[in-house]
Amino acid sequence: FSKVSKNTFFTGKKILITGGPTREAVDPVRFFTNHSSGKMGFALAEEAAKKGADVTLISGPVNLDTPEHVRRIHVDSANDMYEAVMEHYANQDIVIKAAAVADYRPKTVHQQKVKKSDGLLTIEMERTKDILHELGATKRHQFLVGFAAETNDVMEYGRKKLKKKNLDAIVINDVTEQGAGFGSDTNAVTYLNKLGEEMQLSMSTKSDIARQILQFIESDMKDGRL
Ligand code: CTP
Ligand code: CA
Repeated sequence: FSKVSKNTFFTGKKILITGGPTREAVDPVRFFTNHSSGKMGFALAEEAAKKGADVTLISGPVNLDTPEHVRRIHVDSANDMYEAVMEHYANQDIVIKAAAVADYRPKTVHQQKVKKSDGLLTIEMERTKDILHELGATKRHQFLVGFAAETNDVMEYGRKKLKKKNLDAIVINDVTEQGAGFGSDTNAVTYLNKLGEEMQLSMSTKSDIARQILQFIESDMKDGRL
């Protein structure tokens, strides 16, 4: 396709982005999920593609059109996302994990609809794999960016995740902030790199926040300190 891009840094760079929620089945008619709309991940994919990057977007179930020139892979559960991400990880230059991955899934997935009965229902949940943690543990040349969705002690939890998951940078999101929560077309975040440098991106459209995040990634990668 003919696409003129002035940006030379992202041209041809392979970027893997995840977005949206995951679904964890209980039975054929029910699942657990979360409020993620996928808008932040899709905005990142769209802006990266506009800059000429070779973008693969792995997304959970969302109601959004695939941005132009983006390779989209649909997944459902956290385990599906894990497998799709691992399959594509090795030859990526940059990975940005904006997806809201379920931390737990029902331990037993019933093959038939669970019928109601009187009294309480208990569903035993088991941990899913932490995809980003595994990416950090097996990182080679990739620039790895995580997200942190927090409601309290936002910066402290964000910093801990950056370290624990061996990330190059993290985008910290206070989801209780007005206009920065789930489903919104706007966001306000802090970009924190592994040198401890913090950039506050004030309330703006998710497209604008996405462009700024990509700019910080570019300058962090370029100056070679990371
Ligand atoms: N993540 C992941 N796999 C999981 C859970 C989270 O890859 N099973 C990634 C998310 O995509 C995000 C980052 O880890 O980039 C942080 O997710 P978040 O839910 O904020 O943190 P958790 O590490 O799951 O910790 P907690 O939910 O307890 O705050
Ligand atoms: Ca989580």
